[in-house]
Amino acid sequence: MRGKLVAGNWKMNGSLESIRGLMDGIKQGIGSVQGAAVAVCPPAIYIPEVARLIEGTDIRLGGQNVCDEDEGAYTGEISASMLKEFGCAYAIVGHSERRSLYGESDALVAKRFAAARRCGLIPILCVGELLEEREQGITEQVVGRQLDAVLELEGIAAFADAVVAYEPVWAIGTGKTATPEQAQDVHAFIRAKLAAVDRGIAENLIIQYGGSVKGANAAELFSQPDIDGGLIGGASLKADEFLAICQAAG
Ligand code: 13P
Repeated sequence: MRGKLVAGNWKMNGSLESIRGLMDGIKQGIGSVQGAAVAVCPPAIYIPEVARLIEGTDIRLGGQNVCDEDEGAYTGEISASMLKEFGCAYAIVGHSERRSLYGESDALVAKRFAAARRCGLIPILCVGELLEEREQGITEQVVGRQLDAVLELEGIAAFADAVVAYEPVWAIGTGKTATPEQAQDVHAFIRAKLAAVDRGIAENLIIQYGGSVKGANAAELFSQPDIDGGLIGGASLKADEFLAICQAAG
């Protein structure tokens, strides 16, 4: 049976001093989290430091993106093997900020997903619609297209070692969370779409919700049948808030 996973996506925030304080706080409270796996995804340059800070704990580590190529002349990129070498278990791919601000296409995201898996990293594939797409009633079409790009390149088997994060773009950093019902509907759509290809893989797939999750709304979101934890932005930068979310998932 699939478990629950809460991952903090720190985005481009923090300093050596602030991440040490944050990790101190998380480590102090992590004992109170049961029944959910916890991961943090720092800016890449801080990964070695966070790897050191989580030694001896069950906290897992992830990258915020990964190159689609394994090595070579790709200035500014970080390969899956580099993330792996510094202790990462996960790599986020296809975050909406990468898609919209840096022009990453569905096809490129699928290649990044594949590169993570080639190296034994678990990709966290972000999908989600823009506000205008929701208003046009094409949420399922958009999310379906984002999933299809990966299905076509990698096949359904790839989802046995992957996580999907549904992040409606209009809910990210806006304080406007999707209602538990809105989120559940899309999560159920994602699971059903994959179940139509392979039921077992779809049933075991962790599907996280992301978008303005905080301590106060996490429990209700995570109690939905197809919501298996969260990908947390702003609230993952405060130890107490992040721990409250992790507890709600447990
Ligand atoms: P917020 O939790 O800040 O809305 O961000 C969500 C997100 O983008 C996580 O990847």
